[in-house]
Amino acid sequence: MFSSTEATNKEKVLMRLSQRNFPAPESGTAAVGVSARSVVEAEPDEAVPEVIGASLERLDGPAKVTGTARYAYEHPVEAPAYLHPVQATIARGRVASVDTGAAEAVPGVLAVLTHTNAPRLASTEDAELAVLQSDAVAFRGQFVAAVVAETTESARQAADLVRVDYAEQPHEVELDAAGGTLNTRTDNGDVDAAMASSAVTLDRTYTTPMQHNNPMEPHTTIAHWSGSELTLHESTQGVYSVRSVVAPVFGLEPEQVRVLAPHVGGGFGSKGLPHAPLVLAALAAQRSGGRPVKYAVTRRQMFALTGHRTPTSQRVRLAADAEGRLTAVGHDALEHTSRIKEFSEGSSTASGIMYAAPNRRVTQRLVPLDVPVPSWMRAPGHCPGMHALETAMDEMAQACGLDPVEFRIRNEPEIDPISGLPFSSRNLVECLREGADRFGWQQRDPTAGVRRENGWLIGTGVAASTYPTHVFPGSRARIRYADGRYAVLIGAADIGTGAWTALAQIAAEALEVPFDMIDPHLGSTEFPEATVAGGSTGITSWGSAIVQAATVFRDKYGKQPPEGAEAEGATQPNPDTERFSMHAFGAQFAEVRVHADTGEIRVPRMLGVFAAGRIVNARTARSQFLGGMTMGLSMALHEHSVLDSRFGHVVNHDFAGYHVASHADVDSIEATWIDEHDPHVNPMGTKGIGEIGIVGASAAIGNAAYHATGIRVRDLPLTPDKFLR
Ligand code: MOS
Repeated sequence: MFSSTEATNKEKVLMRLSQRNFPAPESGTAAVGVSARSVVEAEPDEAVPEVIGASLERLDGPAKVTGTARYAYEHPVEAPAYLHPVQATIARGRVASVDTGAAEAVPGVLAVLTHTNAPRLASTEDAELAVLQSDAVAFRGQFVAAVVAETTESARQAADLVRVDYAEQPHEVELDAAGGTLNTRTDNGDVDAAMASSAVTLDRTYTTPMQHNNPMEPHTTIAHWSGSELTLHESTQGVYSVRSVVAPVFGLEPEQVRVLAPHVGGGFGSKGLPHAPLVLAALAAQRSGGRPVKYAVTRRQMFALTGHRTPTSQRVRLAADAEGRLTAVGHDALEHTSRIKEFSEGSSTASGIMYAAPNRRVTQRLVPLDVPVPSWMRAPGHCPGMHALETAMDEMAQACGLDPVEFRIRNEPEIDPISGLPFSSRNLVECLREGADRFGWQQRDPTAGVRRENGWLIGTGVAASTYPTHVFPGSRARIRYADGRYAVLIGAADIGTGAWTALAQIAAEALEVPFDMIDPHLGSTEFPEATVAGGSTGITSWGSAIVQAATVFRDKYGKQPPEGAEAEGATQPNPDTERFSMHAFGAQFAEVRVHADTGEIRVPRMLGVFAAGRIVNARTARSQFLGGMTMGLSMALHEHSVLDSRFGHVVNHDFAGYHVASHADVDSIEATWIDEHDPHVNPMGTKGIGEIGIVGASAAIGNAAYHATGIRVRDLPLTPDKFLR
């Protein structure tokens, strides 16, 4: 790959990054891929302590546990005003009239905004963000008015007094297969013919419900205009994403929008792109007499205004020969989107790459409805899609008379079945084998519904996991040397994942200096451009920019930089993305107990084994995997946004009704990973780890529940009633 005699500084850094922490594989350890080590000798005098892979404590930890880490809403501003919105009580129609008289009479009210008097936006192209620009109501809960006041209390009281009359039209919020657009990802060979002629076939439909992201910190904004400059303290997954979306909406140049988000209390996709509340806050701040406007979206408002995951109905067809080799994989997913803005979850996508089969059909059908605008949520597409595929794989293994681990291994593809490209690395089989060993899978009696202890039926299940590996282009990083320390500046957002720490580790290694000489600066458009913390691309993208900046820095200044030395670098084009199919993989194992009399379902044990490239920080990575697996448990057992089709709103729009797994739901969860060296994905050899933990977790639990009870539930969540047939 690189020649040791001609290596530039950049190549040396790349080579060192690829070698560090990846000792030569013991023979037979297939988990470790091709190594650059075979081409170049490691420098013998390397004395810098291993920093990548180390289990370092979070740099932001002390600030968070002592309460000094500032979240968007907490930023101190001069004389703030407060916002409370009025939401539509119909799912489709028009605002016929708005009476703001009583609201305006409330002491402390500064302004009441409606579609007739709100400032005009420069662009209404994005209908989700065209707040108060027309009388049209496209979903229940949409903004129809808003109050700006001296206090949150007066804003809320006045908002309650705004009287809105509607011209209601019939609405449709229930997903059925009628209509919509067909989006075909692949259609190779003939799935129908294979289904008709193969020894074993399975044709099942799985459904997953509407779900809401529900980060612990709601979406919050402080919007402040200073002339034609807009400052936003925003709870977001990307300060530059906010800038680039919001600037044209208000007719501004990007440089006129300043966005700050040093600490974010979770996003799970819902803060990946700006939603209507941010635009409303910025509009309101144009009517607040120059005062900053603060708006914390309430938990209930989040169920209509900050994105959700579509419900899905997924038909999976599998065909196999007598030896259990798949002859066909068919996956047809049905999803909803809002009528005003298209968002496709992409549920069937992963079925393109998971298993070898000569005949394959992977499609999505998208039905526009009068529902709130769906958006990214916790491994969009892959999460519900792999639930369906991996449940079907469990059913099919049984139909073929094969152990589900062995069935998956038997259908491992040699190349990406869709693109025909080799995988840059693919260690699903190793994850399955390692997981089976650790979990004690060999002792499993394959018969369902036979293990019983004290009234509990006990079973175990397995499922595979995958998530694509990408580097988003366009991130830049700056490195500055002063007072013997290196400042690393990049406008990335740490949404609670550990990016502050992991990026400092990457910088330390790229600069070949100790970790504690690095001062990271994140979460502001004052720092160089960075892409969104989404699609599990944060570390892969920002880290690539930091490595490049370090390379430029060392090329320019060598090992003894002068005071004030500064250099920038950006993500580089990677020709390997054209030559390889890049994905992370994993294996999820679960033990489930279902009470024979009550149907109560508990998950006493989960194990995830992941092959996700190089792990930057063992401590924060483990947290990422555990968090993802917990979300998978939550999806399996609890999460369900119940949409009332008569009114078009989510009925259980709070934490009393929408249960997210809490400590009492989680027993033993173990996450581990295999050392995977992938020299193709990016300079660090990392793959994203933010989302893969959730993928397949719900299927493993569902498969274990089947093994416990003999009852196959094909409709999430796995509530007790479904086991009491
Ligand atoms: Mo993540 S759901 O890709 O923001």
